[in-house]
Amino acid sequence: MPQLKIGVLISGSGTNLQSIIDNVEKGEINGKITVVISNKSDAYGLERARQHNIDAVFVNHKEYENFEMYNDAVIEELEKHGVELIVLAGYLKILSGNFIEKYRNKIINIHPSLIPSFCGKGYYGLKVHEAAVNYGVKLSGATVHFVDEQADTGPIIMQESVEVDYDDSAETLQKKILKIEHKILPLSVKYYCDGKIEVVGRKVKIN
Ligand code: GRF
Repeated sequence: MPQLKIGVLISGSGTNLQSIIDNVEKGEINGKITVVISNKSDAYGLERARQHNIDAVFVNHKEYENFEMYNDAVIEELEKHGVELIVLAGYLKILSGNFIEKYRNKIINIHPSLIPSFCGKGYYGLKVHEAAVNYGVKLSGATVHFVDEQADTGPIIMQESVEVDYDDSAETLQKKILKIEHKILPLSVKYYCDGKIEVVGRKVKIN
């Protein structure tokens, strides 16, 4: 099977990006990251990409007249790099309808809760973990899913849970969950690149 070309979109530190880079380099993932794109010029993930000789591109939304044109500029970069699978790894921008339509079931996202809990509009970063801790749930976790038109509603590829202890803060829970994110995101990418993932309606079958 030829190596799949992967594009990773980030906005921040990029520890999830790093987990994919590491698994590609170990030969676990039959793919190649051809580009990392950020909407933030100072995202550390761009630096991680450069350190591994991966093209790192900052696309500045301020340079575009509107949301659609910014998204089209991101698509152009992805096309330039022949991207076949897009991974949103802490990317804090919404994708345009055109973007989602063009890459239907080819965009995956990692979210730091057990969807459908603590997800959707406004649930990002520490806010997700604050909500989980304040609610008093005993389990939280991470979800890898395909991206569709709504926030965090696409078919779920993989989930894993962690226990929430009485004394957990949003910060300690975030740390615990990041650990499992770094496991299930690269594993999902691996399965995708191996052609093992089948979307049946809103369910995902891993063959
Ligand atoms: C992760 O918690 C991910 O689930 C969420 O954004 C965070 C990104 O962290 N979508 P990092 O930049 O990969 O370290």
